[in-house]
Amino acid sequence: MIATTGFASITGSVKINIIPSQVGQVIFLKIQLRLSHQKKIYIYIMYSFICNYAGNKYKELSKFFNQNPEIVEKIKQHGFKKIVECYGGSYGFIRCLNHVYNLEGIEYEVYDINKNLIELYWYIQKLDIEEYKKFIDDYNKKITYIKQNLEYINGKTYFNKTTLLAFLKKMNFDNKHQEYLIYNNLARGAFCTANHKTFEEKDFYLIKKIKFTLGSCLVVEDDESLFYFDPPYLFSPKIEYYSCDFIVDKHNINETIKNLVNSSNKINFIFNHEENFLLDVVFRECDKFNYGKIYGCSKKRSLTSFFIFLKKS
Ligand SMILES: C[S@@+](CC[C@H](N)C(=O)[O-])C[C@H]1O[C@@H](n2cnc3c(N)ncnc32)[C@H](O)[C@@H]1O
Repeated sequence: MIATTGFASITGSVKINIIPSQVGQVIFLKIQLRLSHQKKIYIYIMYSFICNYAGNKYKELSKFFNQNPEIVEKIKQHGFKKIVECYGGSYGFIRCLNHVYNLEGIEYEVYDINKNLIELYWYIQKLDIEEYKKFIDDYNKKITYIKQNLEYINGKTYFNKTTLLAFLKKMNFDNKHQEYLIYNNLARGAFCTANHKTFEEKDFYLIKKIKFTLGSCLVVEDDESLFYFDPPYLFSPKIEYYSCDFIVDKHNINETIKNLVNSSNKINFIFNHEENFLLDVVFRECDKFNYGKIYGCSKKRSLTSFFIFLKKS
């Protein structure tokens, strides 16, 4: 774990918690080092899930729920048996509810059409905790190697994508899941950065709990589940997602959205998307919230709509 760098000589117990920061903007890992009965040291480092996904829903939702606590309260009161993240990615919604709000005793399901991604999760599900730690350590060693050997674009903290891809091509990967992660975490979007990952037990245990399915989620009438939809942007002329390994099939999205709209008054759901007036028409029966966000490197601002529809319990 990167936080241990420079602390190698310290012995004692280590306790790790994930906490939303005071301002609710950033999620930190709070690491408590207990040196003796009296002495404790706290180190805060930013929590970073193994998959980088554009927008980072986990961070966004943690901040949004922090400002609108009644939403999580409603979800809790409803007493759902299952939460389904239909456009899985890094399942930021489920991670947020589980890690920040300790929603327990619930089944989780994640769907995604990206075969490499779902196979990565299936692979991790088979690891024990030591093997998972090693997986993260090996990942971080590769990141350190890249950072030490590849030059940033002049005066910036990101790489030229063509140079990065050529560099990665020459590296040896003995684990295809590791390779998939490095390519997709580093070479996605226009700004390529390389960051270490934190090991977090809660991520490991949550992955074990989730049922991951390769494919689209077609919803059916269901009172006991909450479906969360966070599709790629529907109004882009070309729904091209995450540079490296796949292009999202627009037809496939059409099918799942049609299915959602057709069943929308029969299921409990949340729909998350960039603000667009057409969505206000489609989801007029829902409670609507908006929140602003700023994209990492480009600093582009955008407004996100959060539609929530909970049937009477
Ligand atoms: C906006 S991301 C999801 C973000 C997610 N909420 C998170 O926290 O990372 C979109 C994801 O949807 C997946 N996807 C695209 N079309 C899909 C479909 N028809 N069914 C299921 N997943 C799909 C993509 O592979 C991608 O991983």
